[in-house]
Amino acid sequence: MQVWKEYQEQNKDRFLNELLDLLRIPSVSSQSNHKDDLIACAEAVKNHMLAAGCDKAEVCPTPGHPIVYGEKIIDPALPTVLVYGHYDVQPADPLHLWTSGPFEPVIVDGKIYARGACDDKGQMFMHVKALEVMAKTNTLPCNVKLMIEGEEEVGSNNLGKFLEDNKEKLKADIVLVSDTSMISMDSPSIESGLRGLAYMEVEVTGPNRDLHSGVYGGAVANPINVLCKMIASMHDENNHITIPGFYDKVLELNAAERKALNDAPFNLDEYKKELDIDDVRGEASYTTLERTGIRPTLDVNGIWGGYTGEGAKTVLPSKAYAKISMRLVPNQISDEISDMFANHFRSIAPAGVKVNVTAHHGGEPVVTPTDSHAYKAAEKAIITTFGKTPIPTRGGGSIPIVALFERVLGLKTVLLGFGLDNDNIHSPNEKYDVFNYFKGIETIPYFHKYFSEK
Ligand code: BES
Ligand code: MN
Ligand code: MN
Repeated sequence: MQVWKEYQEQNKDRFLNELLDLLRIPSVSSQSNHKDDLIACAEAVKNHMLAAGCDKAEVCPTPGHPIVYGEKIIDPALPTVLVYGHYDVQPADPLHLWTSGPFEPVIVDGKIYARGACDDKGQMFMHVKALEVMAKTNTLPCNVKLMIEGEEEVGSNNLGKFLEDNKEKLKADIVLVSDTSMISMDSPSIESGLRGLAYMEVEVTGPNRDLHSGVYGGAVANPINVLCKMIASMHDENNHITIPGFYDKVLELNAAERKALNDAPFNLDEYKKELDIDDVRGEASYTTLERTGIRPTLDVNGIWGGYTGEGAKTVLPSKAYAKISMRLVPNQISDEISDMFANHFRSIAPAGVKVNVTAHHGGEPVVTPTDSHAYKAAEKAIITTFGKTPIPTRGGGSIPIVALFERVLGLKTVLLGFGLDNDNIHSPNEKYDVFNYFKGIETIPYFHKYFSEK
């Protein structure tokens, strides 16, 4: 629509500067010293909602970081879109690998560099700006509710209860989320699935104290040696996970579904080149797209113990630790997989060590329909602004709350993401293309328009 284009064009600089201001707030949800930054960020988001034209917006406290809720109800008889996003970010470290400050956004070659630029401040804020475009040009075709949380990166522990407690307030016809990636701007795509997650931490204890590795070495179990062997044993020679029962509920795709998935544009050479690896590695008899899209994984996220300081210290450590996460696919259940892992890990511990296993956060996998009215509205919106039909893909990441939208609110979700896999989310030098930001703001109103045309 011409009025949308004009309004966006006239306010381009402000739209960008407002995002840069938001990116200056270090809203790292996992670090308690940033608690006030999360509150400040929530306040800023609330004020932006009001400025965009929301009738009301509020910062809702939780036992953790607050949830920001805003709405613009133009006619209860019209459809309602519930937008979900998050204003919290992952820690920025390792800091020395950033070429500019993670919370001092800069634009280089048309890309915004900052923690949260893509995940998810940049993408979440497109919805606030898209609402402004529609509200200020009096062209809003439906009701809009926005729920922006501050604990996505730490497992959304308080959002489930918020859904339970606010079913009436959150009543809607669809959930719209921009927190995923596209293949590229030339091959726009829509993710139609997210993996689940089961995140564990393990502790292996050998002797009751650190020992001299010469005096005792060879006679007493070294917990780091043992932990490495236990971890290594959890994949077989085909890179299958060896935890008994792990694959029991995994939904296998049929040949046609696998073909459709592998028809998406993907260049293995470019993939390897971009990551500077000489080969890919994963579960035997599955392609790279299948390995990340429809197959579960088990990965060590961190491992520590013993001496890691400068120089050498001859020590046989008392303890070893690891953080291990499993990505899950339909119909695996996070709690069941956590239990299987814990039982298996305990069962493979050799004599001479004690093990302790704890579960961190988890989340269920989801598949979003590609034949629904809502998906078709998203598809049409992308056709309108990109001139191409988006390709449905399966994303490898997780957004645990999406499964709860369905379970608690009975709502399906559309994942209308505009990130790119190489946006370095969770990594140093996270970026988001200015082009993607404005393309998102341009595309979102069309979703609302087409979704409202029943
Ligand atoms: N936005 C990501 C998830 C994502 C990224 C989905 C790219 C699809 C494509 C989200 O913020 C995220 O990082 N989720 C975490 C899970 C959470 C429980 C910490 C993840 O996937 O590791
Ligand atoms: Mn995210
Ligand atoms: Mn994230």
